[in-house]
Amino acid sequence: MQEHSRSPALDLIDNFPAFEKAAAYLEATILARNCKVIADVGGGAHPLLDDEFILRHGIDYSVLDKSMAELMKADSCGEKVEVDAIGSGDAFLAGIGDRRFDLIFSHMFLEHIDNPIQAHVNFYAALKPGGICVHIYPSPNNLPLALNRFLPESVSSVLIKVAQPGRDFASSQKKFKAYYRLCGAPGPKISAVFEKIGYKIARHTGYIGHNYYARFEPAAMLETRLRKLIHRLQLPLTSGCLLVLEKGR
Ligand SMILES: C[S@@+](CC[C@H](N)C(=O)[O-])C[C@H]1O[C@@H](n2cnc3c(N)ncnc32)[C@H](O)[C@@H]1O
Repeated sequence: MQEHSRSPALDLIDNFPAFEKAAAYLEATILARNCKVIADVGGGAHPLLDDEFILRHGIDYSVLDKSMAELMKADSCGEKVEVDAIGSGDAFLAGIGDRRFDLIFSHMFLEHIDNPIQAHVNFYAALKPGGICVHIYPSPNNLPLALNRFLPESVSSVLIKVAQPGRDFASSQKKFKAYYRLCGAPGPKISAVFEKIGYKIARHTGYIGHNYYARFEPAAMLETRLRKLIHRLQLPLTSGCLLVLEKGR
């Protein structure tokens, strides 16, 4: 999949391939690149690929997570592997055995780790030459996430319960602590971090706008108008990112 030169660095949130759009985006990438050995890092209770797709395309699918309790909630034919993505290189590679991946992807995971550089180094080591990483994650450059970042966990949990009253925190929709390290808008400083590890950046797009005000209509309408202006001005006020990293052959 040739994404590089034509991909914008900043785009509107409507084009963010996350949540209900994530599986279709990943499936298209998998088929375009003929990926067969795939890891879903931080897949936990919600692995992204469904059994039908995995079986139809003969995919060797591993769901990696540091929490066996989360993995046990998942209904997936993928192999569930308890491993810490930010463990030392040796510990991480020992955890995944002799698998080398065509694709390592994550969805709503990178914001939850406090040492993303170690994770990216580990993923680089676990890729085959020519393999890729695809990471889909929130970016904290907006008001609600800035609050989530700076407020104590007890207060932000209450605010999330107000914004998302139907969410079942006790079981499969648990809230995980978020750090947002290296989750900022695309730019030369972040690019240099990935390039130093050895990756080529195939795509890094930041998405402007968010749906956190969905239950508060006037605020949501204002935000929808503002996001278009922010995009026109190309201000890096990003709420989500898509990062595609390649390991050379
Ligand atoms: C918000 S959940 C995302 C689950 C799923 N990918 C999704 O999109 O719904 C984050 C997951 O990352 C896992 N996680 C957090 N830190 C981790 C680490 N250091 N290594 C591996 N998994 C980790 C958590 O256990 C949790 O299952």
